[in-house]
Amino acid sequence: MRSIYFDYNATTRLDSRVQGEMEPFLSEIHGNPSSVHHIGRRARASLDEARDRVAVVWKCKPSEVVFTSGGTESNNLAIFGTARLLKGKKNHLITSQIEHHAVLHAFEYLEKKEGFHVTYLPVSPEGMVDPVSLKSALTPATGLVSIMTANNETGAVQPVADFSKICREASVLFHTDAVQSFGKLPFDSIHQFGADLVSVCAHKFHGPKGSGALFIRSPLLPEPILVGGGHENERRAGTENLPAIWGLMVASELFVRTPVFDSARVEPLVAQLREMAQSIPGIHIRTSETHSLPNTLAMTVEKADSISLMAALDLEGICASSGSACSAGSLEPSHVMKAMGVPPEEANALIRFSLGRDNTEEEVEYVGKRLLQLIKQVQAWGK
Ligand SMILES: Cc1ncc(COP(=O)(O)O)c(C=O)c1O
Repeated sequence: MRSIYFDYNATTRLDSRVQGEMEPFLSEIHGNPSSVHHIGRRARASLDEARDRVAVVWKCKPSEVVFTSGGTESNNLAIFGTARLLKGKKNHLITSQIEHHAVLHAFEYLEKKEGFHVTYLPVSPEGMVDPVSLKSALTPATGLVSIMTANNETGAVQPVADFSKICREASVLFHTDAVQSFGKLPFDSIHQFGADLVSVCAHKFHGPKGSGALFIRSPLLPEPILVGGGHENERRAGTENLPAIWGLMVASELFVRTPVFDSARVEPLVAQLREMAQSIPGIHIRTSETHSLPNTLAMTVEKADSISLMAALDLEGICASSGSACSAGSLEPSHVMKAMGVPPEEANALIRFSLGRDNTEEEVEYVGKRLLQLIKQVQAWGK
């Protein structure tokens, strides 16, 4: 059976050059960067070099780069760490209804268990957060705003620079989950987001899994969420995962400065898929043609359900997603679709195709052609 991978927003394959550069750190360079002997000092030198080189890509100070275990931890550290720092002084927090669960569940936790008041901003039918709604949600008690740069399910790209400006003018901290934008959107510097905190994860741009970073604008010092040793300048305890950190650095140099998702190549493929999908009765495209990632196409299907759709596609060798990978296999309708006003039965019939560097026109044609038949089949299963 052939295999077609249209799920690059879930993860990407580790690039062979990145893998090659990581290998010495899985063998000879095995020291603990905190050890004072020469083997430890060798590892420390590489850790320092990795931080310096990521800072060069980001155009920030090396001390503003904190290495983490991925996007989830970066988001958790940004949100818990900042909210707890502000507790008692600023107890109101703002986020949006379409965030990844690594953000949403952190806010829900702070609301339910730690006495914070949280506003969840609504979105338009195209999945966009309106800067005006952010402005009017701010109160003198607001301490932190967190709004993602690009949505993982629809690809909607938010006006993050507008949000950060509003927050700066109100002296409110701003965090953005930029996990889906690295490697997909043009990158000049970490300051382009205008944010105080920016979450990054390597496996979305052909780096290793379990490797992330958080930009923390100095002199901000969030409360740590992992305590123990004084690693990462007291911001994240735990012996550093040097192979993963080195992999994140190499992937950042190779695939962020010049996005590895080459829009000139991937956009026409997505446009072709959009055209083919649009012609199928019962399909509603949920990705805007203007404000979205170049590689993403989300659609809902009438009289179907996500699990059957994923199963039918997989039987044909086509890997897609029903939204965020973390809720794949769950019967819960997509919270992103619900926030966009999609009726509940259709919010639970989402297909997200996300393309990448190895996809071809021939694959798009194959998927586009098979789609009509597969949807008919799923609709018949439901009868
Ligand atoms: C927008 C967004 N934020 C956070 C994450 C979580 O990242 P990780 O898998 O590295 O924990 C993901 C991954 O799907 C994501 O798409």
